[in-house]
Amino acid sequence: MNVLFATPECAPYVKTGGLGDVSGALPAALAARGHDVRVLLPAYRGMKVSGELGDGIDLPASGPWPAAQLLPVKADNGVTLLLLACPALYQRAGGPYLDSSGRDYADNALRFGFLSRVAALLGTAGSPIEGWQADIVHANDWPCALAPLYLAHARKQDTHRPVAASVLTIHNIAFQGVFELAQADRLDIPGPWRGIEGVEFWGQLSMLKGGLQFAQAITTVSPTYAQEIQTPAFGAGLDGVLRSRADRLTGILNGIDTAVWNPASDPLLPHRYTADDLSGKARNKATLQAQCGLSPDPNAMVFGLVSRLTPQKGIDLVLQALPALLQSGSQLALLGSGDAQLQQRLLEAAAHAPRAASVTLGFNETLAHLIEAGSDCFLMPSRFEPCGLNQMYSQAYGTPPVVGGTGGLVDSVVDATLDPVGGSGFVMRSADGEGFAEALARARAAWTRPAEWRRIQGNGMRRDFGWTASAGRYEQVYAEAVERARPRSYPTA
Ligand code: ADP
Ligand code: GLC
Repeated sequence: MNVLFATPECAPYVKTGGLGDVSGALPAALAARGHDVRVLLPAYRGMKVSGELGDGIDLPASGPWPAAQLLPVKADNGVTLLLLACPALYQRAGGPYLDSSGRDYADNALRFGFLSRVAALLGTAGSPIEGWQADIVHANDWPCALAPLYLAHARKQDTHRPVAASVLTIHNIAFQGVFELAQADRLDIPGPWRGIEGVEFWGQLSMLKGGLQFAQAITTVSPTYAQEIQTPAFGAGLDGVLRSRADRLTGILNGIDTAVWNPASDPLLPHRYTADDLSGKARNKATLQAQCGLSPDPNAMVFGLVSRLTPQKGIDLVLQALPALLQSGSQLALLGSGDAQLQQRLLEAAAHAPRAASVTLGFNETLAHLIEAGSDCFLMPSRFEPCGLNQMYSQAYGTPPVVGGTGGLVDSVVDATLDPVGGSGFVMRSADGEGFAEALARARAAWTRPAEWRRIQGNGMRRDFGWTASAGRYEQVYAEAVERARPRSYPTA
């Protein structure tokens, strides 16, 4: 199949979270199965991309849309990147979504509406790439979510020529791309689809809702989250829409890129190691303690955490648990960035215990790998977690995680108390301070029993978290989507 994978971020070029990791790995896993996969991504400022650069393709201005260029780059992993170059929209100081002071860019509707629109063009007859049209447009999260709507419109306009089927993946339903309904003109949304059957969401325009209405298939990044988002508690207002589309919603657990996240070959680690010889892990722990200014004590249990600092991630629970954790002689190595208030509270907490708690603010890939490798136990008490990747990285690195009992965390961590033979981590029994303290206590007790701990470590390290199985599931979903696109199945205007 010709697959166009549209995404606002893609590791290693630009990443703010797990979507970047998934976009860096899943297309390659699909390409390895014989598909022609091209990744559409904005050309942001300062992005370094290596590979063979093809001729730029001009996209002329049309209707409300600006002129732009597509720059094809053949990457080493078998995937072609299509960089969407439109300097007025994407060449800016700041990140993909936020300016340097942390505010949403005022024109995000246009910036990502345009990304969606170009994705749709590549799936429509007369695609700007000569001789190549997508069979599948795989749109990721709200920034690409209007692509299914534009494709549905193209299908309606021209019933004689093929139009790509669309698959929309929800990586986090908390982010929906909600703007004023008045943006509908600027985004070229057909009149009849501006209402409740289309993008309208409580008087506003929701890009994610628009995509959910028109996609031939909807996926999310774990089976448990697929169930959760159909309930009011987790659906962020879209649970009703999702229940009405339940027949086309599938949960597929993310994999991890084992070329990047493997303790036996990780180039970012000072010491590499395997499940059979963990001596390198002990040396990484010493390096981590030194680098973070923690007491160089091999007998102190080090808890690691790498995260966006947002309420989603249960960072308040970590703050709450910290005094008791330090009291028990354990240490904390935390890396994160995000919410200003959480950052401040973490810094203050660490200042009280400089040799036992270390808080590093910012985005630091190298330190993230060292924390995964050098900690004894990883913390991820998320209140909700669509999939989560760090709990898989930490299991692969022999760093059993303590995780919230939600979403992809329950789908990827086997609780060592419930399954003493096969367990690879500790799942919280309630999503509150008590549940976290109880799971921490179980982890600490297990750590004091070396044989038991080594079994838990080994169980995690020997699990296969690679992408192969999940890439196969996406392939099935693509085939179903193509099938559904055949008889036309979108609301009539
Ligand atoms: P989410 O996408 O919700 O942030 P995931 O667990 O799926 O959560 O993915 C987070 C990814 O971002 C992981 O690769 C993690 O290591 C990385 N990450 C998060 N915060 C930082 C940071 N401050 N520095 C480096 N990497 C980070
Ligand atoms: C989102 C989710 C995270 C998931 C990632 C990749 O950022 O918060 O749980 O792992 O997307 O799918």
